[in-house]
Amino acid sequence: MLEKGTAYNSRTVSTKRMASKHDKTSKGHELDIDRYRVRQEPYYAETGGEIGLFTIASKSKMPVMLKGPTGCGKTRFVQYMAWKLGRPLITVACHEDLTASDLVGRYLLKGNETVWVDGPLTLGVKHGALVYLDEVVEARKDTTVIIHPLSDDRRMLPIEKKGQVVEAVDDFMLVISYNPGYQSVLKDLKQSTKQRFMAIEFTYPPPAIEMQVIEKEAGVNKETAQKLVKLGEKVRNLRNHGLEEGVSTRLLIYAGQLIGKGILPARACEAAVARPITDDPDMQRSIAELVKAIF
Ligand SMILES: Nc1ncnc2c1ncn2[C@@H]1O[C@H](COP(=O)(O)OP(=O)(O)O)[C@@H](O)[C@H]1O
Ligand SMILES: [Mg+2]
Repeated sequence: MLEKGTAYNSRTVSTKRMASKHDKTSKGHELDIDRYRVRQEPYYAETGGEIGLFTIASKSKMPVMLKGPTGCGKTRFVQYMAWKLGRPLITVACHEDLTASDLVGRYLLKGNETVWVDGPLTLGVKHGALVYLDEVVEARKDTTVIIHPLSDDRRMLPIEKKGQVVEAVDDFMLVISYNPGYQSVLKDLKQSTKQRFMAIEFTYPPPAIEMQVIEKEAGVNKETAQKLVKLGEKVRNLRNHGLEEGVSTRLLIYAGQLIGKGILPARACEAAVARPITDDPDMQRSIAELVKAIF
């Protein structure tokens, strides 16, 4: 299933929407931290001790980096951990136009007055949230200036425009995600950034767990889930033959959902697996062959 963030009542922040009427609370212009609470337990199948590791990191005020390919459970894991630790979750999807001000906050004109509006990072630092910077490498370089003092033992957030420095409350935790597969020399995290984070490596879940995840998330039977896991394994092996990245658990779930709705497996896997991951007709044919052999 697609990002379930909203269903769990945690929210991805759209920095452009920050000051809309919608976000106003009784306090005026502040975003309401309660909106970011994860109220229902998200389904998460542990794959190798990551829950314990993250829990210790959170208690030790250690920032965490989640490394791994797309669609392998990083976002779901953070949602689960926010619920388990009882902390609000503020997710920021980083993009190439995302600046330090988008994270920290800015002055906005309201009628005749200018008002300060906290950005998602400031909100999290003040209220003890888990702040998840998804694909942090995409953000503008000026964001590292604020990430650095926050992610070492100072735990300070400089708010340059206000001439202030805010100290993070104990429950604040910074989490970033990073896909080593996408990085180029031009776009990579600097060692000085990387070496501030404890890293948890994510890969596709092992077969038995991936099967359980597909069964549960796509609502298909064991047999279908098993076949999709098998397909996943075979397709991921094609990486040695020119495929850029293996098929994600997310796509296998999509394929399962289509099959569950009565689409023939060949068609479902074409639409949810072969076409999304490659534009190369030969590669698509190879995947179709795999599907035929498995189903
Ligand atoms: N270990 C897991 N437990 C539960 N669901 C999982 C797990 N791994 C993957 N998923 C499923 O795969 C989907 C994609 O995972 P997601 O967390 O969005 O990936 P990422 O953030 O790594 O790109 C999730 O919505 C969820 O349905
Ligand atoms: Mg994600």
